[in-house]
Amino acid sequence: MDNVALQKALNQKIRETLARKTRDALAGGGEDRVRKQHESGKLSARERIDLLLDPGSFVEVDRFKVHRCADFGMDTQKIPGDGVVTGHGLIHGRQVFLFAQDFTVFGGSLSLSHAEKICKVMETAMKVGAPVIGLCDSGGARIQEGVMSLAGYADIFLRNVMASGLVPQITAIMGPSAGGAVYSPALTDWIFMVEKTGHMFITGPEVIKAVTRETVTKEDLGGAMAHNAVSGVAHFAMPDDASCLAGIRELMTFLPQNNLEGPPRVETGDDPLRRDETLRDKVPPDPNTPYDIRDIIRATVDSGYFFEVHEHYARNIVVGFARLDGFAVGIVANQPAVMAGCLDIGASLKGARFVRFCDAFNIPLIVYEDVPGFLPGIQQEHGGIIKHGAKLIYAFCEATVPRITLITRKAYGGAYCVMNSRHIRGDMVIAYPTAEIAVMGAEGAVNIISRGEIKRAADPDTERKRLVTEYREKFANPYKAAELGYIDDVIDPADTRPRVIQALRALRTKRDVNPPKKHGNIPL
Ligand code: HXC
Repeated sequence: MDNVALQKALNQKIRETLARKTRDALAGGGEDRVRKQHESGKLSARERIDLLLDPGSFVEVDRFKVHRCADFGMDTQKIPGDGVVTGHGLIHGRQVFLFAQDFTVFGGSLSLSHAEKICKVMETAMKVGAPVIGLCDSGGARIQEGVMSLAGYADIFLRNVMASGLVPQITAIMGPSAGGAVYSPALTDWIFMVEKTGHMFITGPEVIKAVTRETVTKEDLGGAMAHNAVSGVAHFAMPDDASCLAGIRELMTFLPQNNLEGPPRVETGDDPLRRDETLRDKVPPDPNTPYDIRDIIRATVDSGYFFEVHEHYARNIVVGFARLDGFAVGIVANQPAVMAGCLDIGASLKGARFVRFCDAFNIPLIVYEDVPGFLPGIQQEHGGIIKHGAKLIYAFCEATVPRITLITRKAYGGAYCVMNSRHIRGDMVIAYPTAEIAVMGAEGAVNIISRGEIKRAADPDTERKRLVTEYREKFANPYKAAELGYIDDVIDPADTRPRVIQALRALRTKRDVNPPKKHGNIPL
């Protein structure tokens, strides 16, 4: 064989080695395990990536990385990729970094090498300022590796915290996530869970039974609805893998790439000056009649499109994203249709976390206010409503993004102060003529300040009614606050959209800073 032929043969062999290794890596845990994955209603890691990213945009890194464990016969069991597929790609043409755990390889369990792969993409994402998305499907710490695996988790936690507030971090729980493994997702900004297949818990049903003798199913303990509706750990419950990945793509349209960018803009074609006369009749004049605040949100925002997040938790407050004039905005709204929209522990936590996310990523806040106050009760007091309510105050007080408040009806008591009032640096506060800005509702106020008068009256009920009407006419309206300059204007509800957009346009270049410090001490 001459030299040229020899070279060609060698190169052919080199190419074959690459092709074989690539085939092995792409095969993951093999056909049988992939079939089992499908049978349990789950897609494979690579199928998930294909659905998440723009077609053909995925670039894999560390495809050939393997574990370094020699115990328990692991030295003979090395699968390229080691149970996690990592790399970068595009969502709607924008760069993201991602990892997808592969349950078909050692149950997606986390070895030190597996963790190193995740850390590598996180570090690059932080340097370039791009979001990180993690698709979790894992049996937790690689049991054969012991403390090396725990070290890997700790390495990831550190990077989650360093990335927090720098780039958006999104997690999808698409299989098991047990033990300390739940803490990396918990440190990220958004958690999606797939119904039936996604589970998160610190200890599973068997350990719970052994320790506390409580009996619970996996689903009731840590399924998608348990964490969306009860614990509030997760923000989205999706019926299957495909809808979960589509949900992540949708969420991404509202997020900037990092903390130095402004909110993304999408041309919606909706007239910014569009008036809507139906808004005049959406707020019932009787303060005790409920209505759905989302009807007012939808009537205001571009194309009526409101992307609600954390929908199933603390439904007495509504949070989510929308667009105004094409720009992404964060919406925080009391929900009069649920518990009269009062603020409780759950609502405070939900609202505070959302406000802090929007502030960290330069997304203006629009607050729709109709709140009778904080929820009274022993459970609330002993549950720490004081410190949890303080979180919401803290979050609004420190926020420097443009902040607009629309008071539709009640703004009572401490809740008036909390819900983005002018006093805590709300930039623009506008009210409907139905707004009532007062220390409390007319009934409660009259019962306290006119108790004697009512008791002494010949007909106490008629006297109470008269006093309530008098109080309402005097105080339960927006004009006293307007006289004091605490609200900027009282508007015709039909003008809501143009007025909010004009305010946003005026605030577009807003710059505000907090005093320099290491960090504040939010009441935890
Ligand atoms: C190594 C693991 C593994 C793990 C699963 N596998 N979990 N290998 N380390 N943690 C392997 C299994 O041996 C099996 O391999 C394959 O993955 C598929 O697992 P199955 O059990 O057959 O699947 P399934 O019936 O669907 O059950 C999934 C499961 C179960 C519920 C996740 O595997 C399980 O309970 N695993 C252990 C979970 C756990 O206790 N992890 C440690 C948590 S503590 P073969 O070859 O047989 O197919 C922790 C600490 C982190 O994570 C602390 C951070 C601070």
